[in-house]
Amino acid sequence: MAHTPDFFKKSPAELKSLSTALDIPLEVVHSWFRDRKLPTGEHLKAIAAYTGYSVQQLKVFWGHVDSELLAWLQKNADLVPNLSPSVKKKKPLNETMSTELGTLYQNDCMDVLAEIEDDSLDLIFADPPFNLNKKYPSGMNDRLKEEEYVSWMTGWVDELCRTLKQGGSLFLWNLPRWNSEITRHLNRILYFKHWISVDIKYSLPIKGRLYPSHYSLLYYTKGKKANYFVPDRIPMQICPKCYGDLKDYGGYKSKMNPKGVNITDIWTDIPPVRHAKYKRRKDSNELSIKLLDRIVEMASRPGDLVFDPFGGSGTTYIVSELKGRRWIGTDIGPSKEIIDRFGIIDTERDILEEYRADLNSLFTRNGREQRKKRKIWTDESFHGGNAGKDKKG
Ligand SMILES: C[S@@+](CC[C@H](N)C(=O)[O-])C[C@H]1O[C@@H](n2cnc3c(N)ncnc32)[C@H](O)[C@@H]1O
Repeated sequence: MAHTPDFFKKSPAELKSLSTALDIPLEVVHSWFRDRKLPTGEHLKAIAAYTGYSVQQLKVFWGHVDSELLAWLQKNADLVPNLSPSVKKKKPLNETMSTELGTLYQNDCMDVLAEIEDDSLDLIFADPPFNLNKKYPSGMNDRLKEEEYVSWMTGWVDELCRTLKQGGSLFLWNLPRWNSEITRHLNRILYFKHWISVDIKYSLPIKGRLYPSHYSLLYYTKGKKANYFVPDRIPMQICPKCYGDLKDYGGYKSKMNPKGVNITDIWTDIPPVRHAKYKRRKDSNELSIKLLDRIVEMASRPGDLVFDPFGGSGTTYIVSELKGRRWIGTDIGPSKEIIDRFGIIDTERDILEEYRADLNSLFTRNGREQRKKRKIWTDESFHGGNAGKDKKG
């Protein structure tokens, strides 16, 4: 956790007198000290005059290293003390389940990460709690101060970067609010590939804001080139009622790849997990097998090692197991739901196979059938058969 300077410990009376002395509304003063938003321009100068700190010192308090200060530090790096990293005592790990391919722990992910060697993981997927004050079975605090949450994220993200193999892939799932914080940090260590928007509505419309409608899925690699990147192709979108084209393909129909269309960085086909048939957890933070299937398929080969630091209901581990990837899993809370889920892995296999049956083809099975019935073109009108079925490329 970052050191919080006493500078921010101000009583309501102190904030009020600062507001009066500087003639700045209390609400604005609160945004600086409560939400830790950096004061700018004249405001920053006024606080400097009031507190006796320099503008640069104040920026450091707010955790903002601007280009001037950075240039100074880079020129004077020999003045930076050699801080020895704090040595943490390793905690014993609590293994709760294993298969031939993977092991599950009930531990804080930082304790599991401490046991993972440098540069050893092929693929990492992380879906942490979003700091929305949700109740988790572990009773963990899901309502941290903003800077505490970001500092917590940065801690495990650094560990993920250390343990990711050269050429390995890292995917981070979060609200855009939090992923936007971590990109700046990650851009300095890994290579940015994509900010994928996954179209899922996750709250009710809020007055004064746009309707939140996507999760952010960050995709980074260690080193410029991924060791493996072979995305599936997906069926083209057609009208769900009349099965006709949604776009005018003009003369291009015959040139369309019978194996389907390229996946873009906007994913509109990932279902929220709400239906009881798919739901393995009582609360709502479980991701679709379809999402993890896409990621695991795109960025790993059978036999590769997959890590997910925030197990939840174990979606990543189930998908890894079904696809022949080795995996390491952990959750700070009880493992029961994940273990139970492995008990019904055949059901999960059926669900996965059902999803995959419509991939790498220009039309879903139903879409193709309906279009043929209605005498609407399909790739078979031009290619004489669905040659690409079940093959990517
Ligand atoms: C959003 S859920 C993950 C859901 C999962 N992706 C799925 O599809 O089921 C986040 C999980 O992280 C776990 N968690 C929170 N802090 C943790 C920590 N420090 N180490 C390990 N697990 C943690 C919580 O108990 C919770 O189950």
